[in-house]
Amino acid sequence: MNAPRTALVTGGAGFIGVAIARRFAQTFDRWVVLDSLHPQVHASGERPAELVDAAELVVGDVTSAAVWDELLAGVLPEVVIHLAAETGTAQSLDEASRHAEANVVGTTRMLDAFTRHGIVPSQIVLSSSRAVYGEGRWSSEETGAVSYPGQRTHAQLDAGEWDFAGAAAVPSSAASTVPHPTSVYGATKLAQENVLAAWCGSRDAALTVLRLQNVYGPGQSLINSYTGIVSLFSQLAREGASIPVYEDGLITRDFVFIEDVASAFEAAVLAGGGADGRTLDVGTGRGATILQLATEIAAYHGAPAPHICGAYRDGDVRFAGCTIDETQRVLGWSPEHSLTQGIAALQSWIDAELGSPALGRA
Ligand SMILES: NC(=O)c1ccc[n+]([C@@H]2O[C@H](COP(=O)([O-])OP(=O)(O)OC[C@H]3O[C@@H](n4cnc5c(N)ncnc54)[C@H](O)[C@@H]3O)[C@@H](O)[C@H]2O)c1
Repeated sequence: MNAPRTALVTGGAGFIGVAIARRFAQTFDRWVVLDSLHPQVHASGERPAELVDAAELVVGDVTSAAVWDELLAGVLPEVVIHLAAETGTAQSLDEASRHAEANVVGTTRMLDAFTRHGIVPSQIVLSSSRAVYGEGRWSSEETGAVSYPGQRTHAQLDAGEWDFAGAAAVPSSAASTVPHPTSVYGATKLAQENVLAAWCGSRDAALTVLRLQNVYGPGQSLINSYTGIVSLFSQLAREGASIPVYEDGLITRDFVFIEDVASAFEAAVLAGGGADGRTLDVGTGRGATILQLATEIAAYHGAPAPHICGAYRDGDVRFAGCTIDETQRVLGWSPEHSLTQGIAALQSWIDAELGSPALGRA
């Protein structure tokens, strides 16, 4: 390919940003990262050691017009990968403005800055989320009719009615599932998609929206208690604790390994993006229950079996999963890591980061 010369990656010092830089920063002449080094993600406030040397890190907030003006005085981005975001699904219900400010206003400030500086990137890639689907579609077990049941009520959850009676979840697909976010975070991610689609459509910039499922793997935050269930469970199990599992354990997610997500971003950039915008799901295409996840992690550490605690969390959906056929067809991409392989890789990395686990492994 004729590599575009400069990539600008907002939020590029975070979990996904570090992985994509490691994977393909070298295909650009410049790889510029704009990142505020958010204290909830970066405890030390310093440049992450894992961020490849080639990345030029500019510490700044995407919501600041002055930061953008200073940055764009010396950078002409041809490809923009927009990752910067507040990412707490449950947290976003209590801190709605904070999420809207960073995610929605952060995006519009970026676009206004491009306009002020006469910049139209050839492609913008947005890291969106499965959270835009909310609970997604469910199909009646009796008639097969598909409906959008919306958010579960407190009355349902307090009564332990975790599922929608008589219905089965249908994996989401960007082509056929209408987004219905049930968290403020999900709503801000959908707003990012819509804002970018409007701007890119009017400027002839190609837009690729990647709706990521639950990303996990080495490099994920070990200090951010609001994100990263795999990391949280791993830390409990390695301390020898029984992992508490919410609801009845059968909440379902599609856990996709970080390297598979990085390769999806690479494929999206190489593909160049469709002129009319393109929205693709990135996951494994296979769901796993939270109990399965907890059991695999506990077994790895030789920790006691997980226990069902029956608690629930506001904003959590019962089912999140997707089909990836379209993504595979359009990008020629496929995930390569099984959950078992991914969990093992994450545990080794956590051991290296935190020292020997309290429990020995068989
Ligand atoms: N990790 C997942 O499971 C997942 C799933 C779906 C979508 N996503 C999306 O992928 C993107 C990256 O997520 P991640 O997992 O790498 O998260 P992360 O928190 O590790 O990285 C986000 C980065 O953005 C930076 N940031 C936050 N607010 C900023 C601001 N106002 N200005 C500049 N930088 C700011 C943070 O310092 C951090 O380095 C996000 O847009 C997120 O919504 C992630």
